[in-house]
Amino acid sequence: MITKENLKNPIFCIVAMNENRIIGDGKNLLWNLPGDLKRLKKITMGSPLIMGRKTWDSIGRPLPGRANIVLTNSVSWNAAGAIVVNSFGDAIFKADEWIDLNMETKQNITQKKIFLFGGAEIYKIGLEYCDNIEMTKVKSDIKTGIKFPKLNESDWEKTKLEHHLATNDSPEYSYWHYKRIL
Ligand SMILES: NC(=O)c1ccc[n+]([C@@H]2O[C@H](COP(=O)([O-])OP(=O)(O)OC[C@H]3O[C@@H](n4cnc5c(N)ncnc54)[C@H](OP(=O)(O)O)[C@@H]3O)[C@@H](O)[C@H]2O)c1
Repeated sequence: MITKENLKNPIFCIVAMNENRIIGDGKNLLWNLPGDLKRLKKITMGSPLIMGRKTWDSIGRPLPGRANIVLTNSVSWNAAGAIVVNSFGDAIFKADEWIDLNMETKQNITQKKIFLFGGAEIYKIGLEYCDNIEMTKVKSDIKTGIKFPKLNESDWEKTKLEHHLATNDSPEYSYWHYKRIL
C-alpha cells in the first residue's frame, strides 16, 4: 500500500487553474499562457510525470526529457512514448524505476521528484501524497469545466512567487508555491 511515509521520491503537484478551480474543458486548457508553459517545462524537465489518459490525449505527444507515465483502465491502450499503467501504485513504481535508471546512466538531469501532472481525476487520486503544489493562478471568470479538487485552505502555507499582468494575448496570472503544513 502507498503511504506518504513510504514514498521513495516526493510527489509535487503542478497545476494551472482559475479562481473557480477550473483547469480545462475536458479536452484542452482554456487559456494561452506561453510563459507558464515555459516555466512548466523548466520545473518538470528531467522528472517523471504522472498524467491521466485524457491529459495525454490533450497533449497528443510525449513531453521530451521526462517520463510520460499515463494512467488508464484499459489493458490494451498504448501510445508511442507513453509508459502505460493501470493503477496509481504502478505509476509511482514506474516513476521510481525511471529515476533510478536515469540517476545510474545520467541520461537526463534527474531531480528525484515525481510530478502529479493532472488532469482532475489524477489530482484527485494523488494529491494526498503531495506536500508541495506549484500552482499558477489564472485570472479568468470561466465557471464551467474540469475542476481541481477543493483544498482545505488551512492545510497549506501559500507563497506568491511572481505576478504577470494581462497582455493583449494572455490573461493576468501569478505563480504560487503551496507547502503542506498539516
Ligand atoms: N490546467 C492544468 O494544469 C491541467 C493539467 C492537466 C490537465 N488539464 C486539463 O484537464 C482535462 C483532463 O482532465 P480529466 O480529469 O478529464 O482527465 P484525466 O485525469 O487527464 O484522465 C482521466 C483518465 O485517466 C484514467 N484513470 C483515472 N483514474 C484511474 C485509475 N484509478 N486507474 C486507471 N486509470 C485511471 C482513465 O483513463 P481511461 O478512460 O483510458 O480508462 C480516465 O478516463 C483536460 O481539459 C486537460 O487540458 C489541465
